[in-house]
Amino acid sequence: MNTSSGTAGTPTKRSWAEPFKIKMVELLKVTTLEERKAALKEAGYNTFLLKSDDVYIDLLTDSGTNAMSDVQWAGLMLGDEAYAGSRNYYNLEDNVRKFYGYKYLVPTHQGRGAEHIISQILIKPGDFVPGNMYFTTTRLHQELAGGSFVDVICDEAHDANNLNPFKGNVDLKKVEALIAKVGAKKIPYLSVAVTVNMAGGQPVSMENLRDVRALCKKHGIRVIMDATRAMENAYFIKIREKGFADKTIPEILLEMCSYSDGCTMSGKKDLLVNIGGFLAINEWEVFEEARNLVVVYEGLHTYGGLAGRDMEAMSRGIVEAANYDHLRARIGQVEYVGEGLAKADVPFVLPVGGHAIFLDAKKFLPHLKQTQFPAQALAAELYLESGIRAMERGIVSAGRNKETGDHYYPALELVRLTFPRRVYTQAHCDVLIESVIEVYRNRNKIKGLNMIYEPKYLRFFQARFEPIV
Ligand code: F0G
Repeated sequence: MNTSSGTAGTPTKRSWAEPFKIKMVELLKVTTLEERKAALKEAGYNTFLLKSDDVYIDLLTDSGTNAMSDVQWAGLMLGDEAYAGSRNYYNLEDNVRKFYGYKYLVPTHQGRGAEHIISQILIKPGDFVPGNMYFTTTRLHQELAGGSFVDVICDEAHDANNLNPFKGNVDLKKVEALIAKVGAKKIPYLSVAVTVNMAGGQPVSMENLRDVRALCKKHGIRVIMDATRAMENAYFIKIREKGFADKTIPEILLEMCSYSDGCTMSGKKDLLVNIGGFLAINEWEVFEEARNLVVVYEGLHTYGGLAGRDMEAMSRGIVEAANYDHLRARIGQVEYVGEGLAKADVPFVLPVGGHAIFLDAKKFLPHLKQTQFPAQALAAELYLESGIRAMERGIVSAGRNKETGDHYYPALELVRLTFPRRVYTQAHCDVLIESVIEVYRNRNKIKGLNMIYEPKYLRFFQARFEPIV
């Protein structure tokens, strides 16, 4: 975590540290290789099926795994657990309006609750929903509502080595081509994720958001943002995009959201909580329907499947997440690991994204075919090596084409090392760097996997594998 500074002459390296100190700790179990072998076999070589007690450093996801602050924990004690009209709902509504700028709020238990509701309201069977790369739950809800997802992300996003600073950008030509082909009436909205998880946590530029808005407006198409990691996207805009260096994170976030009609949100990421999400929207009619549907699927519209205390923690999380020093430390930690791995020539997606390092399993294990699940095999090997848990983001996550029944074959076959916010130290990061380098040294010995059980929906969560012998 070094930054170079200094005036003329030799630059001095200045270290910096997390903008918090630790008040409570959670003890970790260190396992033996024999124990890990047994645990992995029992889990069907799927890191999702490991018991968390058997994991040393858990980089499965940054979702719901964040450490809350003392201020958020104190907020839990102020939970107003009234069935209707909890004061915590109004606090959350205030902060959503203030930081994201949308008019109406519908809380949901997590992000997919909001995706479900917006998909049911806006998508009709036969519709098309363009988006900047799919996300698993988002696409599934669009499909369940009768729509077809169309990928309109820029080509650079599919290239793990392309150094474009905004690889999450929408390719406007792809959107225009879709409009020309199916007509704007069949496109209820364009879904824009900031940042793009499956592309490696890559951000979208403000310029692109502005252009997307203008194009969609011309054709009467709504823009719905997946704001799950919008704070991290705002940080990248501040650091990388011309004209934003002097803007604050809240100013950038408000401008980003102003180019959309609403958002779905998984508070379990950016917003530093363990559970929670929301749908926020500007149109009264859509809000009215959402507030009606939420009662069916989540809970009353002033709690949406959350306890009052959860809404309070999320509301306070918004304020902390928009803090520049927090974002710099959070993304700085990911960059630190990236620097360490780059020194050993380990292949991973560049530039380093906001929430994770994505190891390039195709380059890591060139001797494996994609149907031998290289990313799944690599994640399993990393666990065996040191008890570190990562996640497959390749052919298993991509699932099957509902028309042909064949696998989707994504260009990117990745293993995600995802960083929970405010949880691990720089020493954990050093252990991680050393472990990945060790697996890389022994990469030729890693074998592929066979899938022996495949669930129908979101198969990556529960699929089981065994090593090819
Ligand atoms: N959108 C994005 C971009 C996400 O990354 C996620 C979740 C969701 C929506 C769904 O939100 O989990 O609260 O229902 N991503 C997690 C992950 C699961 O590990 O990347 P949710």
